[in-house]
Amino acid sequence: MGVAERLAAPAVGPHYHRRMTNSPAATQPAADAPDDRPYSPGLEGVIAGETALSKVDGANGRLTYRGYRIGDLVEHGTYSAVANLLWTGDWDPRARLSTAAVPEPVLAALRALPRTAKPMDALRTAVSSWGATEGVTYPPTVEQARALTAFSPSALAAFARIRQGKDPVDPDPSLDLVAGFLHQLKGEPPDAGDARALDAYFIVGAEHSFNASTFTARVITATNSDIASAVCGAIGTMKGPLHGGAPSEVVDQLSKMGSVERAEAWLRGALDRGERLMGFGHRVYRAYDPRAAALRKVAEGMEHQPDWLQLAIQVEDMALKLLAERHPERPLKTNVEFYAAPVLQGVGLTPDLFPATFSLARHAGWTAHILEQAANNRLIRPDVRYVGPPERDLPV
Ligand code: COA
Repeated sequence: MGVAERLAAPAVGPHYHRRMTNSPAATQPAADAPDDRPYSPGLEGVIAGETALSKVDGANGRLTYRGYRIGDLVEHGTYSAVANLLWTGDWDPRARLSTAAVPEPVLAALRALPRTAKPMDALRTAVSSWGATEGVTYPPTVEQARALTAFSPSALAAFARIRQGKDPVDPDPSLDLVAGFLHQLKGEPPDAGDARALDAYFIVGAEHSFNASTFTARVITATNSDIASAVCGAIGTMKGPLHGGAPSEVVDQLSKMGSVERAEAWLRGALDRGERLMGFGHRVYRAYDPRAAALRKVAEGMEHQPDWLQLAIQVEDMALKLLAERHPERPLKTNVEFYAAPVLQGVGLTPDLFPATFSLARHAGWTAHILEQAANNRLIRPDVRYVGPPERDLPV
């Protein structure tokens, strides 16, 4: 049975009631009856919660944070203002958040890691050490959300320098968060254009409804665990290549094509081999990803664009044409990662920092969901269909 059919099948009993009763008899079939309750692998199409934070309209390619369009937020807002909007519900374009100092025990933990450690592992380690050092406890608060969102960029920048044998750079409280991150990463005052472009990337990466890492954070919070534990789990989920790995692969694929002349043959060859074109397709969007549209504008306006940006723009048209030919039944459009790649590389980040930088941006959304979950909490504990052997005697 396909997902649509499974979900259209009549629910047995009150399983899709907004609040189920806690009676096992109401939710589980009798011991000897077949378990024919609806099941959707990957929870695809299942409503598993309620949120007022963002709305993803995949059919029409629209995304809003608390009702405000993503394109407007990128044009008129800053990441700090967007984070504040997500946490508090109030739009204050002057809201500021600077990066915070990394406590000494966290620096010691980062120094103890091998220099070859992946930045995502370093960030997860840093957030875990921060939670222990600060003694963070449940329930989460807006102050905790702010403190963690301000801490993590400093921690990632510190690790990026430590692994190069350099000293971490102290936060500059006169800089807004994203400019402060670039300053601590590079050790010099950030270029204003680079800071604006990366800020736009942070805004589009800040929140995206019930994606896998956000759901993880909510599950952890629902057990009344603390905000640092929930964000550690979210980082671990985002580390998987199906969630956070595509922008560096966009760069790889473009460098394999090398030039516009070779691009079409390369794209056709990749599709013939059954490979995926990175930066295209999405589980929810069936239209052009509005985040890609916003970031394309940002990339084209950047002073320090990577030299392959024009190649990327031409490749995008070819790829969309070929994907439409190959999959007339399924609209496969440009996703956010395609134009995240030139922005991240243009501001001087190395591709191995891309996933961890995405995690920094998503801190606003993760922590807002953690607050939302805790404000109206119910333990998240789905059921599972048992497919093992029936009850039997142990051979003794
Ligand atoms: N390039 C080529 N073909 C693609 C494709 C892509 N980027 N994305 C999907 N398809 C094809 C699949 O091969 C599949 O074809 P088939 O039915 O002939 O096997 C069909 O479209 C449906 O794919 P499916 O895996 O069911 O779609 P999904 O909704 O689960 O996948 C993604 C969503 C994002 C995982 C997928 O589009 C993808 O892998 N994209 C490339 C990676 C990427 O850019 N990720 C960042 C996402 S923000």
